[in-house]
Amino acid sequence: MTDRIYARIAGTGSYLPAQVLTNEDLAQRVETSDEWIRTRTGIRQRHVAAEGETTVDLAYQASLRALEAAGVQPEEIDLIVLGTTTPDLIFPSSACLLQHRLGANGCPAFDVNAACSGFVYALTVADKFIQSGAAKTVLVVGAETLTRMLDWSDRSTCVLFGDGAGAVVLKADSETGILSTHLHADGGKKELLWNPVGVSAGFKPEEHNAGVRVLMTGNEVFKHAVKALDSVVEETLEANGLDRHEIDWLIPHQANLRIIEATAKRLDMPMERVIVTVDKHGNTSSGSVPLALDEAVRSGKVQRGQLLLLEAFGGGFTWGSALLRY
Ligand code: COA
Repeated sequence: MTDRIYARIAGTGSYLPAQVLTNEDLAQRVETSDEWIRTRTGIRQRHVAAEGETTVDLAYQASLRALEAAGVQPEEIDLIVLGTTTPDLIFPSSACLLQHRLGANGCPAFDVNAACSGFVYALTVADKFIQSGAAKTVLVVGAETLTRMLDWSDRSTCVLFGDGAGAVVLKADSETGILSTHLHADGGKKELLWNPVGVSAGFKPEEHNAGVRVLMTGNEVFKHAVKALDSVVEETLEANGLDRHEIDWLIPHQANLRIIEATAKRLDMPMERVIVTVDKHGNTSSGSVPLALDEAVRSGKVQRGQLLLLEAFGGGFTWGSALLRY
């Protein structure tokens, strides 16, 4: 036993907007097919936020569920960290809007923008706060309305993404919890996956031949993602002196089934021990890892005491992992 303070997951929650868009629906809009999307990505459907439904709305629902599961009242929260690339407003941050909606006024609250790695980044920040003793009860959220910035005439991107949110409540614990986190970024590849408009660079739709939208070179992103995830998984095992067979569950970023399978192969892990939800909601960016984690917990697959490996890769590029004893 050491004096270390761990950040332990006390409760999880998630939320998907009601409206479902199937691959068949998309095939009515662009030249694609259910078969193409399924075989290349594993995605069958995605959820789309209703008009007026925002990232904070999704974050709020996911947070309520996580708080309930943890048995924590909003006024007990002493930090909110929210991963998102699609905030409601430029400012205040979505974390501040969420804080007020929950009635957790007074605690620090801020957003983290690391694209699809947003939740793993946010979890890492929260873990550091808890380990240092600066916070005891933290709400960590990943929430996105990515469909708001898709070009629905671009079949190479619009079939991949969806809206959704997930949340966890972390509590300081003397026994066990997050064992290590590992974050990386490489800003040199920004143009392979980006949305090139912004406040300071200006909103110049004419330069990129459309408005606010996601642009991606999919096959290049694929290769970088597999390589980066392989390396961060190795780094995590090494840092903890673990054999790859000791991991009970892989809870990966849900972007593409083939990327997930490549990481599972690296870990010599049968797909039965990998949480896959991408078929149900596509790539929800920051929402994806906590959505998968919540499904893993609520379905009863993940049990207390098991070793979980979370990982993500996204625009930036950013990537990272978290190893935890649930
Ligand atoms: N339906 C039908 N055909 C499509 C299509 C769609 N939705 N999207 C692209 N195509 C076509 C392309 O136009 C191309 O046609 P061409 O050969 O006539 O030029 C062909 O399919 C192959 O394109 P390519 O991009 O090489 O396919 P791919 O096997 O790499 O699959 C992705 C494309 C996007 C599914 C894949 O690259 C991928 O998943 N990349 C990672 C994306 C990702 O996860 N990003 C987020 C990371 S956080």
